[in-house]
Amino acid sequence: MSKFIITPTTNLSGEICVLGAKNAAIKMIAASCLFDGETILENVPDIIDIQKIIQILEKLGLKFVRRGHRLQINTTKLHSDNLDSGLVGAIRSSVVLVGPLLNRFGVVKLPHPGGCNIGSRPIDLHIMAFEKLGVVVTENNRYYTFKYEPDVHLQPVEINFPKISVTATENVLLFASREERTITINNAAIEPEVIDLINFLKKAGVKISVNDRQIKITGNKNLKNVTYNVIPDRIEAGTYAILAVTTKSELKISNIIPEHLKSLLEIFSKMNIEFEIAKDTLYIKKSDKIRACDIKTAEYPGFPTDLQPPMGVLLTQAQGKSMITENIFNNRLDYLNQLNKMGANTNILTPNNAEIIGPTPLSGAKIESLDLRAGATLLIAALTANSPSEIKHAENIDRGYEKIEERLANIGAKIKRVL
Ligand code: EPU
Repeated sequence: MSKFIITPTTNLSGEICVLGAKNAAIKMIAASCLFDGETILENVPDIIDIQKIIQILEKLGLKFVRRGHRLQINTTKLHSDNLDSGLVGAIRSSVVLVGPLLNRFGVVKLPHPGGCNIGSRPIDLHIMAFEKLGVVVTENNRYYTFKYEPDVHLQPVEINFPKISVTATENVLLFASREERTITINNAAIEPEVIDLINFLKKAGVKISVNDRQIKITGNKNLKNVTYNVIPDRIEAGTYAILAVTTKSELKISNIIPEHLKSLLEIFSKMNIEFEIAKDTLYIKKSDKIRACDIKTAEYPGFPTDLQPPMGVLLTQAQGKSMITENIFNNRLDYLNQLNKMGANTNILTPNNAEIIGPTPLSGAKIESLDLRAGATLLIAALTANSPSEIKHAENIDRGYEKIEERLANIGAKIKRVL
């Protein structure tokens, strides 16, 4: 367990470069299990969630070499026995290992991934899709067992998701990549990270077409080994953009894909925040009178749930009353109680709705990072406050932001890590 001691610092300046997308890189590491051989991934951030997914696979025989942000993965000795229950419980996205491991090895035992701090997070949609694909799923109090006999199921299959799920869509994509029958996903997630995984799989030789929210996949067993460059992390980019506005800073955020930040930048415009975009760079200008704004999270291309908590702290500094509606997860507003400890004026009205009245000055406090995005939110709040703060569980922030204190130090932030 580590903590951050933060000295308030507004007027940050300079440039911060966004690294590769966590939620794309994890799925490509899972995709490497489809091949017998080597996968090379460029632009992979060195963060805890990536380290954990690799640790799970190392226990199944995967070998890897990391040089900077380049990851060379070898899966020749891979098997699918005994996924580590501690690690699977610590990183819920490990559920995406089921698709590729199952199709390659025929059986996977997945320890219960459990709940987490942002909501109950069931895996019923994954199970429904696998059963439709001919997988036999059983469950005891410790794990789910998935069994699949390849080459028996030859008819095309159509999966209709009643609800959009990022990892359930990706699990089917990964599973289907070694199937020769055509598999269609209706009501699929089309987040940029899903599209990046599709581009990776296409490079490996899988035929995939995307039409609105319908994805059609025709795979094969002779996939080509791939070298692939992961897209920049839109949530990391958005976090820095919100940091810049909240701390009244001028910041250059480089290595972004502007299209991926469209919903955030639309909100910025409504709030009277000044910014400029040039190719792969976002310049945030100093904005004084920021207007309140209502935020409703939604699946891409809607406003991302992962930027809802950082947006919450920015809204404490806006003029007027803002409403937050969290439509994706049912427990993602608790961080507001931490902000209230710092002097914010917010009310959680239901598990999915809150109001924020601003602007209120924030003062330093002893606060706790409840999960990855809530942790990043408190870091922004602590830098904006008028006295020092202490954030417990800094390791939650390390799950998704590489060496955050060093990288923010380069733009003027004063953050000390205490182990
Ligand atoms: N859901 C079900 N049943 C399922 C799967 C999902 O009811 O079987 C529900 C969830 O409970 C939630 C909704 O469907 O209410 C959407 O969940 P989804 O499955 O899309 O989320 P996820 O795939 O588990 C990914 C990201 C999250 C991100 C969400 C939404 C990864 C590893 N994680 O989660 O990222 O918030 O999509 O965009 O890709 C983060 O990076 O901090 C993070 C939490």
